[in-house]
Amino acid sequence: AAVCAASVYIVRRRMQSSGKWARVIEILRVLEEDCATPIGKLRQVADAMTVEMHAGLASEGGSKLKMLISYVDNLPSGEEHGFFYALDLGGTNFRVMRVLLGGKQGRVVKQEAKEVSIPPHLMTSGSDELFNFIAEALANFVATEGEDFHLPEGRQRELGFTFSFPVKQTSLSSGTLIKWTKGFSIEDTVGQDVVGALVKAMERVGLDMNVTALVNDTVGTLAGGRYYNPDVVAAVILGTGTNAAYVERAHAIPKWHGLLPKSGEMVINMEWGNFRSSHLPLTEYDHLLDFDSLNPGEQILEKIISGMYLGEILRRVLLKMADEAAFFGDSVPPKLRIPFIIRTPNMSAMHSDTSPDLKVVGSKLKDILEVPTTSLKMRKVVVSLCDIIACRGARLSAAGIYGILKKLGRDAPKDGETQKSVIAMDGGLFEHYTQFSECMESSLKELLGDEASDSVEVIHSNDGSGVGAALLAASHSQYLDDSQT
Ligand code: GLC
Repeated sequence: AAVCAASVYIVRRRMQSSGKWARVIEILRVLEEDCATPIGKLRQVADAMTVEMHAGLASEGGSKLKMLISYVDNLPSGEEHGFFYALDLGGTNFRVMRVLLGGKQGRVVKQEAKEVSIPPHLMTSGSDELFNFIAEALANFVATEGEDFHLPEGRQRELGFTFSFPVKQTSLSSGTLIKWTKGFSIEDTVGQDVVGALVKAMERVGLDMNVTALVNDTVGTLAGGRYYNPDVVAAVILGTGTNAAYVERAHAIPKWHGLLPKSGEMVINMEWGNFRSSHLPLTEYDHLLDFDSLNPGEQILEKIISGMYLGEILRRVLLKMADEAAFFGDSVPPKLRIPFIIRTPNMSAMHSDTSPDLKVVGSKLKDILEVPTTSLKMRKVVVSLCDIIACRGARLSAAGIYGILKKLGRDAPKDGETQKSVIAMDGGLFEHYTQFSECMESSLKELLGDEASDSVEVIHSNDGSGVGAALLAASHSQYLDDSQT
Protein backbone atom coordinates (compact mmCIF):
# COMPACT_ATOMS: atom_id res chain seq x y z
CA ALA A 1 0.00 0.00 0.00
CA ALA A 2 2.87 2.27 0.86
CA VAL A 3 4.43 1.73 -2.59
CA CYS A 4 1.12 2.36 -4.22
CA ALA A 5 0.54 5.57 -2.26
CA ALA A 6 4.01 6.77 -3.16
CA SER A 7 3.51 6.18 -6.86
CA VAL A 8 0.12 7.87 -6.81
CA TYR A 9 1.79 10.77 -5.07
CA ILE A 10 4.47 10.93 -7.76
CA VAL A 11 1.92 10.79 -10.57
CA ARG A 12 -0.19 13.44 -8.89
CA ARG A 13 2.88 15.64 -8.45
CA ARG A 14 3.69 15.12 -12.10
CA MET A 15 0.17 15.96 -13.11
CA GLN A 16 0.21 19.00 -10.89
CA SER A 17 3.52 20.17 -12.17
CA SER A 18 2.57 19.56 -15.79
CA GLY A 19 -0.70 21.40 -15.05
CA LYS A 20 1.34 24.24 -13.69
CA TRP A 21 3.58 24.21 -16.66
CA ALA A 22 0.57 24.24 -18.96
CA ARG A 23 -0.60 27.34 -17.10
CA VAL A 24 2.80 28.98 -17.62
CA ILE A 25 2.57 28.29 -21.32
CA GLU A 26 -0.97 29.60 -21.39
CA ILE A 27 0.04 32.89 -19.73
CA LEU A 28 2.89 33.18 -22.22
CA ARG A 29 0.56 32.47 -25.14
CA VAL A 30 -2.02 35.04 -24.06
CA LEU A 31 0.71 37.66 -23.59
CA GLU A 32 2.05 36.95 -27.05
CA GLU A 33 -1.41 37.24 -28.55
CA ASP A 34 -2.20 40.49 -26.73
CA CYS A 35 1.13 42.05 -27.67
CA ALA A 36 0.96 41.04 -31.31
CA THR A 37 1.90 43.77 -33.78
CA PRO A 38 1.34 42.38 -37.27
CA ILE A 39 2.21 44.80 -40.02
CA GLY A 40 -1.42 45.74 -40.59
CA LYS A 41 -1.75 46.85 -36.98
CA LEU A 42 1.43 48.90 -37.23
CA ARG A 43 0.01 50.65 -40.27
CA GLN A 44 -3.17 51.42 -38.34
CA VAL A 45 -1.11 52.85 -35.48
CA ALA A 46 0.93 54.96 -37.91
CA ASP A 47 -2.23 56.26 -39.58
CA ALA A 48 -3.80 57.08 -36.22
CA MET A 49 -0.58 58.89 -35.30
CA THR A 50 -0.78 60.99 -38.49
CA VAL A 51 -4.43 61.83 -37.82
CA GLU A 52 -3.61 62.91 -34.26
CA MET A 53 -0.67 64.98 -35.48
CA HIS A 54 -3.05 66.96 -37.70
CA ALA A 55 -5.51 67.37 -34.83
CA GLY A 56 -2.83 68.51 -32.38
CA LEU A 57 -1.50 71.07 -34.86
CA ALA A 58 -4.99 72.36 -35.62
CA SER A 59 -5.91 73.55 -32.15
CA GLU A 60 -4.64 73.71 -28.59
CA GLY A 61 -5.91 70.62 -26.81
CA GLY A 62 -7.18 69.18 -30.10
CA SER A 63 -5.48 65.85 -29.51
CA LYS A 64 -3.75 63.63 -27.00
CA LEU A 65 -0.68 64.60 -29.02
CA LYS A 66 0.18 68.06 -27.76
CA MET A 67 2.32 68.94 -30.79
CA LEU A 68 4.10 71.65 -28.81
CA ILE A 69 5.57 74.63 -30.58
CA SER A 70 9.26 74.83 -29.70
CA TYR A 71 9.99 78.34 -30.99
CA VAL A 72 12.94 76.78 -32.80
CA ASP A 73 12.44 77.96 -36.36
CA ASN A 74 16.06 77.75 -37.37
CA LEU A 75 18.20 74.70 -36.92
CA PRO A 76 21.99 74.91 -36.55
CA SER A 77 23.87 75.86 -39.67
CA GLY A 78 27.33 74.85 -38.51
CA GLU A 79 28.46 78.43 -38.09
CA GLU A 80 27.62 78.68 -34.40
CA HIS A 81 30.63 79.73 -32.37
CA GLY A 82 31.63 80.59 -28.85
CA PHE A 83 31.51 79.09 -25.41
CA PHE A 84 28.23 77.82 -23.97
CA TYR A 85 26.88 75.77 -21.14
CA ALA A 86 24.14 73.15 -21.35
CA LEU A 87 22.08 71.47 -18.68
CA ASP A 88 20.18 68.30 -19.43
CA LEU A 89 17.42 67.26 -17.04
CA GLY A 90 15.05 64.52 -17.95
CA GLY A 91 15.69 61.15 -16.40
CA THR A 92 17.30 59.70 -13.35
CA ASN A 93 20.53 61.56 -14.12
CA PHE A 94 21.18 65.03 -15.19
CA ARG A 95 24.15 66.34 -17.03
CA VAL A 96 25.97 69.62 -17.06
CA MET A 97 28.28 70.44 -19.91
CA ARG A 98 30.27 73.18 -21.53
CA VAL A 99 31.16 73.32 -25.18
CA LEU A 100 33.38 75.45 -27.29
CA LEU A 101 31.92 75.84 -30.75
CA GLY A 102 34.41 76.61 -33.46
CA GLY A 103 32.16 78.05 -36.13
CA LYS A 104 33.03 77.31 -39.75
CA GLN A 105 36.45 75.92 -39.03
CA GLY A 106 36.01 73.90 -35.94
CA ARG A 107 32.62 72.49 -35.13
CA VAL A 108 32.74 71.35 -31.50
CA VAL A 109 36.29 72.25 -30.53
CA LYS A 110 36.11 71.18 -26.93
CA GLN A 111 33.51 69.67 -24.70
CA GLU A 112 33.41 68.75 -21.04
CA ALA A 113 30.54 67.18 -19.16
CA LYS A 114 29.62 65.84 -15.78
CA GLU A 115 26.78 63.51 -14.98
CA VAL A 116 25.07 63.73 -11.62
CA SER A 117 22.43 61.31 -10.42
CA ILE A 118 19.34 62.80 -8.89
CA PRO A 119 18.55 61.54 -5.39
CA PRO A 120 15.20 59.76 -5.91
CA HIS A 121 13.40 61.71 -3.16
CA LEU A 122 14.00 64.94 -5.10
CA MET A 123 11.84 63.60 -7.94
CA THR A 124 8.74 63.74 -5.79
CA SER A 125 9.37 66.50 -3.24
CA GLY A 126 9.33 70.27 -3.79
CA SER A 127 10.27 72.42 -6.75
CA ASP A 128 12.83 74.50 -4.86
CA GLU A 129 14.60 71.40 -3.57
CA LEU A 130 15.03 70.01 -7.09
CA PHE A 131 16.12 73.27 -8.69
CA ASN A 132 18.48 74.11 -5.81
CA PHE A 133 20.16 70.75 -6.24
CA ILE A 134 20.56 71.34 -9.96
CA ALA A 135 21.82 74.90 -9.57
CA GLU A 136 24.36 73.78 -6.99
CA ALA A 137 25.67 71.03 -9.26
CA LEU A 138 25.91 73.53 -12.09
CA ALA A 139 27.75 76.04 -9.89
CA ASN A 140 30.22 73.33 -8.83
CA PHE A 141 30.80 72.48 -12.46
CA VAL A 142 31.32 76.12 -13.43
CA ALA A 143 33.91 76.35 -10.67
CA THR A 144 36.02 73.77 -12.52
CA GLU A 145 36.14 75.81 -15.73
CA GLY A 146 39.64 75.73 -17.19
CA GLU A 147 41.55 78.26 -19.29
CA ASP A 148 40.49 76.61 -22.54
CA PHE A 149 37.04 77.95 -22.05
CA HIS A 150 37.59 81.63 -22.27
CA LEU A 151 34.72 84.02 -21.66
CA PRO A 152 35.27 87.40 -23.30
CA GLU A 153 35.47 90.36 -20.93
CA GLY A 154 32.19 91.66 -19.59
CA ARG A 155 30.10 88.76 -20.80
CA GLN A 156 27.62 86.66 -18.96
CA ARG A 157 27.77 82.90 -19.33
CA GLU A 158 24.95 81.50 -21.43
CA LEU A 159 23.09 78.25 -21.02
CA GLY A 160 20.94 75.97 -23.14
CA PHE A 161 18.54 74.17 -20.81
CA THR A 162 17.29 70.78 -21.97
CA PHE A 163 14.24 70.03 -19.90
CA SER A 164 12.68 66.79 -21.08
CA PHE A 165 9.09 67.12 -19.99
CA PRO A 166 6.05 68.64 -21.71
CA VAL A 167 6.41 72.41 -21.62
CA LYS A 168 4.20 75.04 -23.13
CA GLN A 169 6.79 77.44 -24.44
CA THR A 170 6.10 81.16 -24.32
CA SER A 171 9.34 81.97 -26.14
CA LEU A 172 12.53 80.13 -26.98
CA SER A 173 13.78 80.83 -23.47
CA SER A 174 10.68 80.43 -21.33
CA GLY A 175 7.85 78.00 -20.82
CA THR A 176 5.55 76.49 -18.25
CA LEU A 177 5.49 72.87 -17.22
CA ILE A 178 2.30 71.14 -18.39
CA LYS A 179 2.80 68.01 -16.30
CA TRP A 180 5.57 65.76 -15.07
CA THR A 181 6.23 62.36 -16.65
CA LYS A 182 8.69 59.49 -16.09
CA GLY A 183 8.35 59.15 -12.33
CA PHE A 184 8.72 62.82 -11.49
CA SER A 185 5.86 64.31 -9.55
CA ILE A 186 6.40 67.72 -7.96
CA GLU A 187 3.12 69.51 -7.73
CA ASP A 188 4.33 73.04 -7.22
CA THR A 189 6.31 73.09 -10.49
CA VAL A 190 3.27 72.35 -12.66
CA GLY A 191 2.08 75.52 -14.37
CA GLN A 192 5.29 77.36 -13.41
CA ASP A 193 7.93 78.81 -15.72
CA VAL A 194 10.74 76.30 -15.41
CA VAL A 195 13.37 78.81 -16.53
CA GLY A 196 12.16 81.16 -13.80
CA ALA A 197 12.51 78.34 -11.27
CA LEU A 198 16.05 77.59 -12.47
CA VAL A 199 17.08 81.26 -12.52
CA LYS A 200 15.84 81.78 -8.96
CA ALA A 201 17.77 78.73 -7.81
CA MET A 202 20.89 80.00 -9.60
CA GLU A 203 20.52 83.33 -7.82
CA ARG A 204 20.25 81.51 -4.51
CA VAL A 205 23.60 79.80 -5.11
CA GLY A 206 25.17 82.98 -6.51
CA LEU A 207 25.54 81.76 -10.08
CA ASP A 208 25.29 84.39 -12.77
CA MET A 209 24.20 82.81 -16.03
CA ASN A 210 21.67 83.64 -18.71
CA VAL A 211 19.26 80.89 -19.78
CA THR A 212 19.21 81.52 -23.51
CA ALA A 213 17.29 78.50 -24.75
CA LEU A 214 14.83 76.08 -23.17
CA VAL A 215 14.44 72.90 -25.22
CA ASN A 216 12.98 69.44 -24.99
CA ASP A 217 15.53 66.61 -25.43
CA THR A 218 13.94 65.66 -28.75
CA VAL A 219 14.39 69.23 -29.99
CA GLY A 220 17.99 69.29 -28.74
CA THR A 221 18.66 65.98 -30.46
CA LEU A 222 17.14 67.30 -33.67
CA ALA A 223 19.36 70.39 -33.48
CA GLY A 224 22.44 68.32 -32.61
CA GLY A 225 21.64 65.88 -35.43
CA ARG A 226 21.10 68.63 -38.00
CA TYR A 227 24.42 70.23 -37.05
CA TYR A 228 26.25 67.25 -38.49
CA ASN A 229 23.75 66.12 -41.10
CA PRO A 230 21.57 68.46 -43.16
CA ASP A 231 19.12 65.65 -43.98
CA VAL A 232 17.95 65.21 -40.40
CA VAL A 233 14.19 65.88 -40.33
CA ALA A 234 13.12 64.32 -37.05
CA ALA A 235 14.52 63.12 -33.75
CA VAL A 236 13.29 60.32 -31.54
CA ILE A 237 14.22 59.55 -27.95
CA LEU A 238 13.97 55.97 -26.78
CA GLY A 239 15.18 56.13 -23.21
CA THR A 240 13.57 56.37 -19.79
CA GLY A 241 10.70 57.98 -21.68
CA THR A 242 9.93 58.22 -25.36
CA ASN A 243 9.11 61.15 -27.61
CA ALA A 244 9.72 62.67 -31.03
CA ALA A 245 10.24 66.09 -32.59
CA TYR A 246 10.28 67.00 -36.25
CA VAL A 247 10.48 69.93 -38.62
CA GLU A 248 7.04 71.09 -39.72
CA ARG A 249 6.11 73.66 -42.34
CA ALA A 250 4.94 76.70 -40.39
CA HIS A 251 1.85 77.16 -42.53
CA ALA A 252 0.77 73.62 -41.70
CA ILE A 253 0.33 74.66 -38.06
CA PRO A 254 -3.12 76.28 -37.88
CA LYS A 255 -2.81 76.90 -34.12
CA TRP A 256 0.33 79.04 -34.64
CA HIS A 257 -0.80 82.65 -34.71
CA GLY A 258 2.65 84.23 -34.52
CA LEU A 259 4.61 85.67 -37.39
CA LEU A 260 5.52 83.25 -40.10
CA PRO A 261 9.20 82.47 -39.49
CA LYS A 262 11.64 83.43 -42.23
CA SER A 263 12.66 79.82 -42.67
CA GLY A 264 9.00 78.85 -43.10
CA GLU A 265 9.63 76.06 -40.62
CA MET A 266 8.98 75.28 -36.99
CA VAL A 267 10.19 72.39 -34.87
CA ILE A 268 7.33 70.59 -33.16
CA ASN A 269 7.74 68.59 -29.96
CA MET A 270 5.08 65.93 -30.39
CA GLU A 271 5.06 64.47 -26.86
CA TRP A 272 4.17 61.18 -28.54
CA GLY A 273 4.50 59.33 -25.24
CA ASN A 274 0.98 60.50 -24.50
CA PHE A 275 -0.43 58.94 -27.67
CA ARG A 276 -3.12 56.35 -27.27
CA SER A 277 -5.41 54.63 -29.72
CA SER A 278 -7.75 51.68 -29.85
CA HIS A 279 -5.22 50.14 -32.22
CA LEU A 280 -2.53 49.91 -29.53
CA PRO A 281 -2.04 46.34 -28.34
CA LEU A 282 -2.60 46.67 -24.59
CA THR A 283 -2.53 43.82 -22.09
CA GLU A 284 -3.92 43.31 -18.61
CA TYR A 285 -0.43 44.07 -17.28
CA ASP A 286 -0.38 47.44 -19.02
CA HIS A 287 -3.74 48.42 -17.60
CA LEU A 288 -2.63 47.57 -14.07
CA LEU A 289 0.75 49.23 -14.48
CA ASP A 290 -1.03 52.37 -15.65
CA PHE A 291 -3.51 52.19 -12.79
CA ASP A 292 -0.71 51.93 -10.22
CA SER A 293 1.40 54.65 -11.83
CA LEU A 294 1.97 58.27 -10.75
CA ASN A 295 0.06 59.41 -13.85
CA PRO A 296 -2.82 57.02 -14.56
CA GLY A 297 -4.46 57.40 -17.95
CA GLU A 298 -1.50 59.35 -19.28
CA GLN A 299 1.59 58.53 -21.34
CA ILE A 300 0.07 55.26 -22.54
CA LEU A 301 2.40 54.81 -25.52
CA GLU A 302 5.35 55.65 -23.28
CA LYS A 303 4.25 52.99 -20.81
CA ILE A 304 4.48 50.23 -23.41
CA ILE A 305 7.62 51.41 -25.19
CA SER A 306 10.07 53.08 -22.89
CA GLY A 307 12.89 52.02 -20.62
CA MET A 308 11.22 53.11 -17.43
CA TYR A 309 8.47 50.54 -17.92
CA LEU A 310 9.66 47.51 -19.94
CA GLY A 311 11.33 45.78 -16.98
CA GLU A 312 8.28 46.51 -14.87
CA ILE A 313 5.97 44.84 -17.40
CA LEU A 314 8.24 41.80 -17.30
CA ARG A 315 8.04 41.76 -13.49
CA ARG A 316 4.27 41.83 -13.62
CA VAL A 317 4.07 38.88 -16.02
CA LEU A 318 6.54 36.88 -13.92
CA LEU A 319 4.51 37.67 -10.81
CA LYS A 320 1.39 36.30 -12.43
CA MET A 321 3.28 33.16 -13.43
CA ALA A 322 4.63 32.82 -9.90
CA ASP A 323 1.23 33.38 -8.33
CA GLU A 324 -0.92 31.30 -10.60
CA ALA A 325 1.45 28.68 -11.94
CA ALA A 326 4.08 28.33 -9.20
CA PHE A 327 6.67 29.36 -11.76
CA PHE A 328 9.35 29.79 -9.11
CA GLY A 329 8.15 26.90 -6.95
CA ASP A 330 5.62 26.73 -4.17
CA SER A 331 6.14 30.24 -2.90
CA VAL A 332 6.41 33.54 -4.71
CA PRO A 333 9.85 35.16 -4.33
CA PRO A 334 9.12 38.16 -2.05
CA LYS A 335 11.35 40.45 -4.13
CA LEU A 336 9.15 39.83 -7.15
CA ARG A 337 6.43 41.82 -5.41
CA ILE A 338 8.54 44.99 -5.36
CA PRO A 339 7.51 47.36 -8.17
CA PHE A 340 10.26 48.34 -10.62
CA ILE A 341 12.73 45.86 -9.13
CA ILE A 342 13.52 44.50 -12.61
CA ARG A 343 15.12 47.37 -14.47
CA THR A 344 15.19 47.45 -18.23
CA PRO A 345 19.02 47.15 -18.49
CA ASN A 346 18.69 43.85 -16.60
CA MET A 347 15.97 42.74 -18.95
CA SER A 348 18.21 43.65 -21.87
CA ALA A 349 21.08 41.63 -20.37
CA MET A 350 18.82 38.57 -20.01
CA HIS A 351 17.35 39.03 -23.47
CA SER A 352 20.75 39.09 -25.09
CA ASP A 353 22.09 36.05 -23.23
CA THR A 354 23.56 33.80 -25.92
CA SER A 355 25.13 31.20 -23.64
CA PRO A 356 23.65 27.73 -24.31
CA ASP A 357 22.52 27.31 -20.71
CA LEU A 358 21.34 30.93 -20.39
CA LYS A 359 23.55 31.53 -17.41
CA VAL A 360 23.15 35.32 -17.49
CA VAL A 361 19.39 34.84 -17.11
CA GLY A 362 20.01 32.49 -14.19
CA SER A 363 22.37 34.83 -12.43
CA LYS A 364 20.16 37.89 -12.96
CA LEU A 365 17.15 36.06 -11.52
CA LYS A 366 19.30 35.03 -8.61
CA ASP A 367 20.70 38.52 -8.00
CA ILE A 368 17.48 40.46 -8.45
CA LEU A 369 14.79 38.10 -7.21
CA GLU A 370 16.92 35.93 -4.92
CA VAL A 371 15.75 32.80 -6.70
CA PRO A 372 18.64 30.39 -6.01
CA THR A 373 18.11 27.99 -8.91
CA THR A 374 16.13 27.93 -12.12
CA SER A 375 15.77 25.29 -14.81
CA LEU A 376 16.79 25.92 -18.40
CA LYS A 377 13.14 25.63 -19.36
CA MET A 378 12.26 28.48 -16.98
CA ARG A 379 15.09 30.63 -18.23
CA LYS A 380 13.87 30.09 -21.79
CA VAL A 381 10.42 31.31 -20.78
CA VAL A 382 11.99 34.46 -19.32
CA VAL A 383 13.84 35.15 -22.57
CA SER A 384 10.59 34.69 -24.53
CA LEU A 385 8.88 37.21 -22.25
CA CYS A 386 11.67 39.74 -22.82
CA ASP A 387 11.33 39.19 -26.53
CA ILE A 388 7.57 39.68 -26.62
CA ILE A 389 7.62 42.81 -24.46
CA ALA A 390 10.62 44.50 -26.10
CA CYS A 391 9.55 43.69 -29.62
CA ARG A 392 6.11 45.19 -29.14
CA GLY A 393 7.72 48.44 -27.94
CA ALA A 394 10.27 48.46 -30.74
CA ARG A 395 7.69 47.83 -33.45
CA LEU A 396 5.38 50.52 -32.09
CA SER A 397 8.20 53.03 -32.09
CA ALA A 398 8.86 52.13 -35.73
CA ALA A 399 5.16 52.74 -36.44
CA GLY A 400 5.46 56.17 -34.81
CA ILE A 401 8.43 57.08 -36.99
CA TYR A 402 6.58 55.83 -40.04
CA GLY A 403 3.62 58.04 -39.01
CA ILE A 404 5.89 61.10 -38.96
CA LEU A 405 7.35 60.23 -42.35
CA LYS A 406 3.83 59.90 -43.71
CA LYS A 407 2.87 63.28 -42.28
CA LEU A 408 5.91 64.76 -44.03
CA GLY A 409 5.16 62.96 -47.28
CA ARG A 410 8.48 61.18 -46.99
CA ASP A 411 7.20 57.62 -46.65
CA ALA A 412 7.42 56.78 -50.32
CA PRO A 413 10.04 57.84 -52.85
CA LYS A 414 8.82 60.33 -55.41
CA ASP A 415 9.66 59.87 -59.06
CA GLY A 416 13.07 61.20 -59.90
CA GLU A 417 13.71 62.51 -56.39
CA THR A 418 16.62 61.42 -54.32
CA GLN A 419 15.58 63.20 -51.16
CA LYS A 420 16.98 61.61 -48.03
CA SER A 421 15.24 61.61 -44.67
CA VAL A 422 17.38 61.07 -41.62
CA ILE A 423 16.02 60.38 -38.14
CA ALA A 424 18.34 61.27 -35.27
CA MET A 425 17.90 58.84 -32.40
CA ASP A 426 19.09 58.89 -28.82
CA GLY A 427 18.34 57.36 -25.44
CA GLY A 428 19.55 54.37 -23.47
CA LEU A 429 17.03 51.96 -24.90
CA PHE A 430 18.14 52.75 -28.43
CA GLU A 431 21.79 52.83 -27.53
CA HIS A 432 22.13 49.84 -25.23
CA TYR A 433 19.23 47.44 -25.86
CA THR A 434 20.42 45.83 -29.08
CA GLN A 435 17.41 43.57 -29.64
CA PHE A 436 15.15 46.56 -29.22
CA SER A 437 16.95 48.82 -31.68
CA GLU A 438 17.43 46.03 -34.21
CA CYS A 439 13.76 45.14 -34.05
CA MET A 440 12.83 48.82 -34.38
CA GLU A 441 15.00 49.27 -37.46
CA SER A 442 13.85 46.10 -39.18
CA SER A 443 10.20 46.96 -38.49
CA LEU A 444 10.71 50.41 -39.98
CA LYS A 445 12.18 48.79 -43.10
CA GLU A 446 9.22 46.44 -43.24
CA LEU A 447 6.83 49.40 -43.09
CA LEU A 448 8.71 51.42 -45.70
CA GLY A 449 9.25 48.61 -48.15
CA ASP A 450 12.48 48.07 -50.10
CA GLU A 451 12.36 51.14 -52.25
CA ALA A 452 11.55 53.73 -49.61
CA SER A 453 13.93 52.12 -47.13
CA ASP A 454 16.86 53.42 -49.16
CA SER A 455 15.82 57.03 -48.68
CA VAL A 456 15.30 56.80 -44.92
CA GLU A 457 18.17 56.51 -42.52
CA VAL A 458 18.22 56.13 -38.75
CA ILE A 459 21.33 57.49 -37.03
CA HIS A 460 22.50 57.61 -33.45
CA SER A 461 22.95 61.21 -32.40
CA ASN A 462 25.14 60.64 -29.40
CA ASP A 463 24.61 63.22 -26.66
CA GLY A 464 22.84 65.29 -29.25
CA SER A 465 20.42 66.85 -26.83
CA GLY A 466 23.11 68.52 -24.71
CA VAL A 467 25.15 69.79 -27.64
CA GLY A 468 21.91 70.70 -29.39
CA ALA A 469 20.82 72.93 -26.50
CA ALA A 470 24.24 74.63 -26.52
CA LEU A 471 23.94 75.15 -30.28
CA LEU A 472 20.51 76.72 -29.90
CA ALA A 473 21.84 78.94 -27.11
CA ALA A 474 24.62 79.96 -29.50
CA SER A 475 22.32 80.78 -32.38
CA HIS A 476 20.13 82.84 -30.05
CA SER A 477 22.92 84.36 -27.96
CA GLN A 478 22.34 87.78 -26.50
CA TYR A 479 25.74 88.74 -27.96
CA LEU A 480 24.95 87.51 -31.44
CA ASP A 481 25.60 90.87 -33.03
CA ASP A 482 29.03 91.20 -31.44
CA SER A 483 31.65 90.31 -33.96
CA GLN A 484 34.16 89.33 -31.30
CA THR A 485 33.66 86.03 -29.51
C1 GLC B 1 8.82 61.99 -21.69
C2 GLC B 1 8.70 63.51 -21.67
C3 GLC B 1 9.18 64.10 -22.96
C4 GLC B 1 10.59 63.60 -23.27
C5 GLC B 1 10.61 62.07 -23.28
C6 GLC B 1 11.99 61.51 -23.54
O1 GLC B 1 7.94 61.50 -22.65
O2 GLC B 1 7.37 63.88 -21.43
O3 GLC B 1 9.19 65.52 -22.89
O4 GLC B 1 11.01 64.09 -24.51
O5 GLC B 1 10.13 61.60 -22.04
O6 GLC B 1 12.90 61.93 -22.59
